[in-house]
Amino acid sequence: MIENMNGMLKKAKQGKYGVGAFNFNEFTDLKALVHAAAENSAPVILMASGGTVKFFGIKEIVHAYRCLAEDAGAACALHLDHCKDLELLQTCVNAGFTSVMIDASTKPFDENAEITKRVVEIAHGKGVSVEAELGTVAGREEDIVGGEAEYINPGKVGEFIEKTGIDALAVGIGTVHGFYKQEPHIRFDLIEEIAGLTDTPLVMHGGTGLSVEDFQRAIRCGISKVNVGTELKFSFSSRLCEIAKEKGPEGDPRDFMRAVYEGSKTIAAGKMKIFGCAGKA
Ligand code: 13P
Repeated sequence: MIENMNGMLKKAKQGKYGVGAFNFNEFTDLKALVHAAAENSAPVILMASGGTVKFFGIKEIVHAYRCLAEDAGAACALHLDHCKDLELLQTCVNAGFTSVMIDASTKPFDENAEITKRVVEIAHGKGVSVEAELGTVAGREEDIVGGEAEYINPGKVGEFIEKTGIDALAVGIGTVHGFYKQEPHIRFDLIEEIAGLTDTPLVMHGGTGLSVEDFQRAIRCGISKVNVGTELKFSFSSRLCEIAKEKGPEGDPRDFMRAVYEGSKTIAAGKMKIFGCAGKA
């Protein structure tokens, strides 16, 4: 089913589970994510980064999403991840993305709120949900360079949500994009405090490398959307390498893509069970 994030995140918040939000790179892994959702009766958020949008194409992504999601029997949202470019964001909204993230988190608070408010006006007119970020997620992911992690200031949350009208808030709580180079110091207390301050669903970025216990504790504390990207990307490339080693250039191209498909589907299905969204579509 074609949906934005609002219905699924509201239900997740009420039901105290997390919805998996997964980055895809091209058609095969996108298909695997939708099939994982269908087979596990789980809602899913399909996330395209700026890099994926450039490589795959906006129109192509939207058409692929629609044809896969329409018959999936599970709620599927198409989300533009970490966008700083308002022109690109507007194009994606017009083309049929059902959700967007504006990331102005490295700007001063007032500027972040101002830009985010503009995006909400653009997106809500088309029924598109909006995520924004307070505090910063460190690490590097494609063209997103987070710099130093900055923990969210709970004192600013109410004002930010009121000023902007966003639908979901990404919280800087110590998680990092990409593989963890050291143990993350996740501020579960901050998640709990912020969840007590607002009804707006909270988002945790940087899911790759976190333990089952970390995921489930974050969800118990109040996270409703959980982002995973690098683990899927790594699986995509390593599955190709494995088949290449086994079969060489004589290998059937479909064997390569089948391996990618199975890898992505297995990871997404596993996360849906960990996050508690399996059976909640
Ligand atoms: P990871 O790549 O660390 O899993 O983070 C994904 C993410 O937060 C995308 O916004």
